[in-house]
Amino acid sequence: MMDLNVCFFRCLITATMLLQVRCKTVTGLYGQTIEVPCNNGASKPDDLIFTKWKYEMEDGTSGDLLVKQAHKDEAQIKALDGYKDRVSIAANFSLMIQNASMVDQRTFTCMVVYGSNLDEHPINVLVYKKPLPPQIRDKAKELENGKLTQLGVCVAAAANPAAEIEWSKNGAVLVSDDKNVVITTTMAVDPTNSLSTTTSSLLYAAVKGDVDAKFTCKSKHVIQTQLSHAETFAVHYPTEKLSLQVLATVPIIEGDNVTLKCKADGNPPPTSFIFTIKGQKVTVKESDNYTLQGVTRYNTGDYKCSLADDSKMEASERIVVNYLDLSLSPTGRVLKTFGDNLVVKMEQNSSGDAKVSWTKDNVKLDRAPTFKTVKYSDEGVYVCAVSVAGIKRSEKFHLEVEGKPVIKRLTKERSVDGTHKILTCEAEGAPQPSVQWSVNGTDEKNTYANGKAIHQITVVPSGNLTVTCFVTNKLGDDFMAINVTTLNKEEKLEKKGEQDGRRIQDKGPGKPERRNPEHLKKARSWRRTTTECRESRVIGLLETKEGRSS
Ligand SMILES: *[C@@H]1O[C@H](CO)[C@@H](O)[C@H](O)[C@H]1NC(C)=O
Ligand SMILES: *[C@@H]1O[C@H](CO)[C@@H](O)[C@H](O)[C@H]1NC(C)=O
Ligand SMILES: *[C@@H]1O[C@H](CO)[C@@H](O)[C@H](O)[C@H]1NC(C)=O
Ligand SMILES: *[C@@H]1O[C@H](CO)[C@@H](O)[C@H](O)[C@H]1NC(C)=O
Ligand SMILES: *[C@@H]1O[C@H](CO)[C@@H](O)[C@H](O)[C@H]1NC(C)=O
Ligand SMILES: *[C@@H]1O[C@H](CO)[C@@H](O)[C@H](O)[C@H]1NC(C)=O
Ligand SMILES: *[C@@H]1O[C@H](CO)[C@@H](O)[C@H](O)[C@H]1NC(C)=O
Ligand SMILES: *[C@@H]1O[C@H](CO)[C@@H](O)[C@H](O)[C@H]1NC(C)=O
Repeated sequence: MMDLNVCFFRCLITATMLLQVRCKTVTGLYGQTIEVPCNNGASKPDDLIFTKWKYEMEDGTSGDLLVKQAHKDEAQIKALDGYKDRVSIAANFSLMIQNASMVDQRTFTCMVVYGSNLDEHPINVLVYKKPLPPQIRDKAKELENGKLTQLGVCVAAAANPAAEIEWSKNGAVLVSDDKNVVITTTMAVDPTNSLSTTTSSLLYAAVKGDVDAKFTCKSKHVIQTQLSHAETFAVHYPTEKLSLQVLATVPIIEGDNVTLKCKADGNPPPTSFIFTIKGQKVTVKESDNYTLQGVTRYNTGDYKCSLADDSKMEASERIVVNYLDLSLSPTGRVLKTFGDNLVVKMEQNSSGDAKVSWTKDNVKLDRAPTFKTVKYSDEGVYVCAVSVAGIKRSEKFHLEVEGKPVIKRLTKERSVDGTHKILTCEAEGAPQPSVQWSVNGTDEKNTYANGKAIHQITVVPSGNLTVTCFVTNKLGDDFMAINVTTLNKEEKLEKKGEQDGRRIQDKGPGKPERRNPEHLKKARSWRRTTTECRESRVIGLLETKEGRSS
């Protein structure tokens, strides 16, 4: 009895907000059924007469809830107020309170009456409720750089006990510093249900870096800690720096499109700009760029942009448009006569140091070609390639050299076995001259390169012979004679006389004797015969080949 009285006393003190120690406390959840055990569920005395549950009423007096006679199955509800429909007693004498609410936070007492005695077991009931998910309301439309602005209000509604609120930026807790962060928290109890609503207002001075910052608030509660949705805010700040970007493929060459883009570091970004294009101001609205289409060398220069509403804020950039002009003279097919002069003129204008290279028939030349007198070996395709800053240009000419044939050398040589003579006629001329001899030879060999024709035949002379080599093309002809002696007799002489083909000058006056009409006539008749002869021999050769292969 003593203990019980002490506890009862203390429970009463609890009601006056003092510490309660001995008195047992049970906690229930709002809206659920609370079980209030009787004496911790201890078994009841054998001589139990009845069990009664009482409660402490608002005025501090005690009221009866229900009575259960030991010999009856049903308990008798005594309550007349809201408890009448919500209370029942379990088989183990626990008081069951349905649909718990804040009114159930009070002291209930289980009174056990038996034999000659009675025990009272008071018990405190607490009802907890977690708040509704926290919400950020009254959000700022935008934040201004450095200016303390109400960012929002976080509400954690209808909780018991009241929830605590904590603000975070990018997950880091914000703490009031009375300067850049000012957090004011208030708590209000709803008189209709006694639930507490915690409201926390955040005043915040944003910095530029807060553009994508995520602000959240957290409700901390004994049942559950909950997090609000993350909110981000536009941060406004004026333009402090302007930059002009040149959007183009680098290096810029003639024909390119070049876009000038004016970048301001303010937020929201300015929407109007003034571009200064070659000294002329162009206002651009609802855009930050201006495109120069198909630029030329004349677009090279300094470009500027400024804010439409603040011309002092200005940025500039230089644009260099690269160009390359090339002219070559001559070009195309160039026909020159051997010995002529050819002047090659290459001229180039460019925006920088141009690289010039020459090739002849795809082979690199060390320097630009010059032709004081054109030679047969000069023939070929000449390409001049010039490049500067991503631009390549090339021009070419095809030099063709022609000239009437001139015999350079006519030589004779004894064969290794001494049975015959090898005659070689070397002539220059283009187009390729045809070569004829005044004798029938064998083992004919013929080469032609770079305007040089070499023709070789093998003869077996019977007696002293004057052999003439005759060369001709569409531009003219030439011939030369050589004396060939019988093999056995004049070896000595021949050694000395090798390469002694001579112009036939002893049959008339002056040089043109090479062209002595009689000689020409003779030579032409030789040509005719030898041509016929050669043709028939070639046919014979083919026949022989065919004969062999079949
Ligand atoms: C009493 O009975 C109820 C319902 O049968 C049960 O949920 C509860 O655990 C019991 N309590 C004790 C203390 O045994
Ligand atoms: C529970 O109690 C509340 C008032 O606290 C009431 O509005 C609600 O209808 C009750 N629910 C049930 C299931 O009795
Ligand atoms: C330049 O822009 C015009 C129009 O947009 C387009 O037709 C042309 O192909 C562009 N030129 C280059 C070199 O990109
Ligand atoms: C230029 O401005 C227009 C209009 O604002 C925009 O649609 C376009 O994307 C911009 N161009 C560039 C290259 O930024
Ligand atoms: C190079 O520029 C000069 C002067 O502008 C001009 O006279 C000349 O014709 C140009 N040459 C070429 C190949 O464009
Ligand atoms: C060359 O041979 C042919 C027949 O083989 C003969 O008709 C011709 O006279 C010969 N010419 C000379 C110059 O010996
Ligand atoms: C050939 O010429 C040599 C001298 O060059 C002479 O000695 C010889 O008699 C000549 N032979 C004939 C057959 O004319
Ligand atoms: C060839 O020999 C004749 C005499 O047989 C002579 O008149 C002539 O000058 C000689 N020609 C050459 C090229 O040696």
